[in-house]
Amino acid sequence: MSLPNPEPVLFLIEAFRRSQAMFTAVELRVFDHLEHAPLGVAQLATLIQANPDALERLLNTCVNLELLQLESGAYANPPIASTYLIRNSPHSIIGYIEYSQKALWHLWAKLPEAVREGTHRWEQVFGGQGELFSHYYKTDEDKRRFMMGMHGFGMISSPQVVRAFDLSSFRHMVDLGGATGHLPIAACQAYPELRASVYDLPGVLHVTREVIGDSGLDSRIDAIGGDFFKDPFPDADLYAIGRILHDWTRAKIDLLLKKIHAALPEGGAILIAEKLLDESGVKPLWTLLQSLNMLVVTEGKERRLSEYKEILESAGFRDVEGVVLLNSPLDAILARK
Ligand SMILES: C[S@@+](CC[C@H](N)C(=O)[O-])C[C@H]1O[C@@H](n2cnc3c(N)ncnc32)[C@H](O)[C@@H]1O
Repeated sequence: MSLPNPEPVLFLIEAFRRSQAMFTAVELRVFDHLEHAPLGVAQLATLIQANPDALERLLNTCVNLELLQLESGAYANPPIASTYLIRNSPHSIIGYIEYSQKALWHLWAKLPEAVREGTHRWEQVFGGQGELFSHYYKTDEDKRRFMMGMHGFGMISSPQVVRAFDLSSFRHMVDLGGATGHLPIAACQAYPELRASVYDLPGVLHVTREVIGDSGLDSRIDAIGGDFFKDPFPDADLYAIGRILHDWTRAKIDLLLKKIHAALPEGGAILIAEKLLDESGVKPLWTLLQSLNMLVVTEGKERRLSEYKEILESAGFRDVEGVVLLNSPLDAILARK
């Protein structure tokens, strides 16, 4: 009897090593240094104070992963590294890489306990007690790392999310839990008549204001502090809510959606940015892994469009439409009052 091909199992045994190779090259600022000029291993080892033989193994792995190029003994950044893996690129996703390495990596190590108990792992791994986001935001550095992590992905998804539907009839968007404001920024760039507000916990708004200032849209976008479970919402004809519903229990989602429905005028709408599970429940892999991620870090999970439809309709919304976006970390749903 011939044995099945072991390749998928062998791949998964080493898959985490790929992530850690990229995380380490980012942490050692390999890509930042190479952005100035291609360098040989000895020069780079001196710059980042690394062991030359060990560094060469890391660099050659990155070449094989297509994160670096090697020509005549010099390593150089290909466009993917210059765009996403250096600190001062406007499209940098280093925030999410740092968040993955400093937080998610340790939380995922406790996945077996999370699956047994069905709860996140913050207290077990990092200690402390309190509201969910008190774990994310223990220090200002943690806060900034998480927000810039969200921002990097948001820069990829938001321009597509705001164009998934024609939003040109709306005048004021409030992005609930809007973090850095990447969604209102993309929306104001796409719709010249729109004004927008980012609504988030007061302790994060200094980061929000920095990002809005850098976008040059501060005359059309403001930042408002509040707790979306407890405080009233600013008036809007369009509420956006991106990567929020997947954080919370069904009871808290119902509370939020009913509040949004009550705050909207007739004909107003809610725009949701979340990654949708296929109706089969077994794809796409990105969303399935994200749902496990939600297990180890939040109270929530990822859902199918039919599940969001049921949840939205039970909060009073109608005309629920979903759009699956290609090459985007998030999809889009629109529902009306
Ligand atoms: C997963 S992040 C999503 C951020 C953003 N919407 C995005 O897609 O990049 C969740 C956001 O909700 C905010 N948040 C958490 N609890 C909140 C609350 N009770 N009231 C207002 N914002 C809250 C956090 O500060 C954070 O910015």
